[in-house]
Amino acid sequence: RSDRMRDQYNRRVNYMRISITDLCNLRCLYCMPEEGICKKDHKDMLTFEEITKAVKIAATLGIDKIRITGGEPLVKKGIVEFIKGLSDIKGIKDIAMTTNGVLLKKHAKDLKEAGLKRVNISIDSLKQDNYARITRGGDVHQVLEGIEEVIKLGMTPVKLNAVVIGGYNQDEVQDLANLTKNENIEVRFIELMPVGEAGNWAKERFISNEAIKEKIGNLIPLVHQASSPAKYYKLPDGKGKIGFINPISSHFCGECNRIRMTSDGKLKPCLHSHEEIDILNVIRNTPDDLKDVMANAIMAKPQQHYLYTDGYQLGKRSMAEIGG
Ligand code: GTP
Ligand code: 5AD
Ligand code: SF4
Repeated sequence: RSDRMRDQYNRRVNYMRISITDLCNLRCLYCMPEEGICKKDHKDMLTFEEITKAVKIAATLGIDKIRITGGEPLVKKGIVEFIKGLSDIKGIKDIAMTTNGVLLKKHAKDLKEAGLKRVNISIDSLKQDNYARITRGGDVHQVLEGIEEVIKLGMTPVKLNAVVIGGYNQDEVQDLANLTKNENIEVRFIELMPVGEAGNWAKERFISNEAIKEKIGNLIPLVHQASSPAKYYKLPDGKGKIGFINPISSHFCGECNRIRMTSDGKLKPCLHSHEEIDILNVIRNTPDDLKDVMANAIMAKPQQHYLYTDGYQLGKRSMAEIGG
């Protein structure tokens, strides 16, 4: 069985990213249309029970790390019990979440007690007016309180994700970077990807990681952590780290350890893959096949993604559905 824990390029796949909903309480310009996305029929979505079943099987294939994503995962009712259920699964060692942080303060303590180890929080701006423009109405203070709470609870390392958008937040790069001065957190700058909602809008507002690095200036490179999408640096006097993520470059495909599951029950072997493997119907109709279907999906991981390197080929899924 242990041969199944590696894909055909000898990568050990131990990390599953699960998008539990494509709904969200914000409307970031690059991610969602103003009116939100069309709500899918309830019966076409995996229930928490079904996701938990799938994770149990995945654990027997060598998955030991789970990241819950969205949309926004904290808008789902029953999230705390769901996390508890996952942390009871034998073989699951690490459960993390990527969230916009709006509802984090309220849930952080319960989530920690349920077994959530870490959170990555998306925060593109520290200034209320900019934040509200980018998220179409969000309140940055709620997010800041959420961040404070998880730091207080010691859910470390706390990672902040900021997508840099020309004309919106590029002047805040230094302020965001400075958050790593006194706090042992990671601030990661993400290049804007022209997928889904963003399309041409993003193309015109693209700012490269190189340009951001230049703005910050004094950066000391750190050793690259295997299978991390970020390249890390630190400020000379900084406690924390500054990361740069280019979601399109394939620099870490060779050591990629991930597989994705969408809320409508599809496995995606790669962030950018068009290929999707249905497990919703397998779970419901032929559950005995689930293990083989999942093993095959891991085997189907492409060597690298095949988005054109200029990146302007649109996938059929939005980021809210894929979960980043
Ligand atoms: P940890 O390493 O567990 O902290 O997670 P992470 O940094 O991968 O998770 P997060 O959800 O915070 O993702 C941050 C950014 O990395 C997102 O913008 C993703 O699009 C990007 N990213 C995540 N996974 C991949 C991947 O498989 N390939 C590429 N190219 N980018 C990815
Ligand atoms: N380009 C870059 N990053 C994006 N994210 C969502 N949509 C895009 C996009 N078009 C980011 C979110 C979050 C992470 C999971 O993905 O801001 O931090
Ligand atoms: Fe919601 Fe995240 Fe998309 Fe913003 S980027 S609309 S917070 S899912």
